[in-house]
Amino acid sequence: MAFGLFKKKEESKTTSNDGFLHLKVKEVIKETDDAISIHFEQPAQGDIEYKAGQFFTIIADVDGKEVRRAYSVCSSPFVDPNPAVTVKRVEGGVMSNYLNDNLSGGETLKVMSPIGNFTTDFSATNSRELVLFGGGSGITPLMSIAKSALDQEPNTKITLVYANRGADSIIFKSTLEQMQQDDRFSVVHVLENESDSLKAHSGYLTQEVIDTVLADKELPKVECFVCGPGPMMDIAINGLGAAGVPSDKVHKESFVSTASEEDAVSDEIVAREVTIIYDDEEYKYTVEPGETILEKGLDEDIDLPFSCQSGLCTACRGKCLSGKVKMTEDEGLSEAELDEGYVLPCVSHPLTDDIVIEIG
Ligand SMILES: Cc1cc2nc3c(=O)[nH]c(=O)nc-3n(C[C@H](O)[C@H](O)[C@H](O)COP(=O)(O)OP(=O)(O)OC[C@H]3O[C@@H](n4cnc5c(N)ncnc54)[C@H](O)[C@@H]3O)c2cc1C
Ligand code: FES
Repeated sequence: MAFGLFKKKEESKTTSNDGFLHLKVKEVIKETDDAISIHFEQPAQGDIEYKAGQFFTIIADVDGKEVRRAYSVCSSPFVDPNPAVTVKRVEGGVMSNYLNDNLSGGETLKVMSPIGNFTTDFSATNSRELVLFGGGSGITPLMSIAKSALDQEPNTKITLVYANRGADSIIFKSTLEQMQQDDRFSVVHVLENESDSLKAHSGYLTQEVIDTVLADKELPKVECFVCGPGPMMDIAINGLGAAGVPSDKVHKESFVSTASEEDAVSDEIVAREVTIIYDDEEYKYTVEPGETILEKGLDEDIDLPFSCQSGLCTACRGKCLSGKVKMTEDEGLSEAELDEGYVLPCVSHPLTDDIVIEIG
């Protein structure tokens, strides 16, 4: 595998020429055997603006091919001087292993500015019971939210329910211990493999754990954030619903899509021309069955925005001004966005001949 990490040994800077940030890595911290945190230097021109829980898109050249992946901030914009993300290895994964194996301080990474809706507005007058459900690398945006709430909301309490395989795979273990010195913050560990060193529920997250966590909380004050592997998220979301937490108080972020492009195989999906409006330009091209509107646009050398390419992150989001598309995943969009006609071209296939999508 040939690696090329944008090794520009230059001052940390923002670049507007290509529309991306070029951020110097201040430090790479090994969190566990299979996870690192990447701390970025702030650009000389001014600090990067981001909200707790949002994500950067890292763009790297791996094996001669440009790869983009989303990584949530683990830092708090209120507390931490440097923005940081945490990357956990995925078996056989291109970017996560590349970064874990190769990245070191002093290198420069090309990234897209932070975006994302897995966030909340903080206010000193809030008095909330934030309950955060994380699994594995899903801790990353939750850490950002927890630190921010502790700093910004003196009357808010935070409970983190954190599921992992074993005690040695717990990311931020010592930071979490320190944070618990503040009695507004507590952690409930759930470990598949029992641990002698750590008090934890053994096995998987269950309704019983959820009910126990909620038992001493005033339900109207409860607001939940859920991020982790699909099955863990399903248990948390269904369990919170069963416990009476309204769905609009349960925010979720998925890192992996469970949808399949097989879902886009149907007689309705045939080759059709689409019109894309982006950056004040209008493009027309024909999308064949088996390819998405984004894929074909990129093949046509149109510099469309994207990150996850799986319908989760909304980096490619556009408004469908006319016509109808079939999306194989819409996890990234809220009900309101769907009602307003927003679509995700990375998972969209044209269903009609009159499609016009405005991006940006
Ligand atoms: C909004 C958003 C935020 C994210 N934030 C983070 C973060 O903070 N930290 C982090 O480590 N990752 C995060 N991810 C996941 C990340 O973007 C990559 O998908 C992940 O690092 C795998 O990329 P890869 O190139 O190594 O694997 P790929 O080469 O893309 O995938 C290899 C295989 O692993 C599967 N796979 C991909 N991701 C996962 C996963 N997370 N768990 C299990 N299987 C997987 C794929 O389906 C594929 O079969 C986030 C994703 C999204 C959409
Ligand atoms: S690129 Fe992430 S939703 Fe389309």
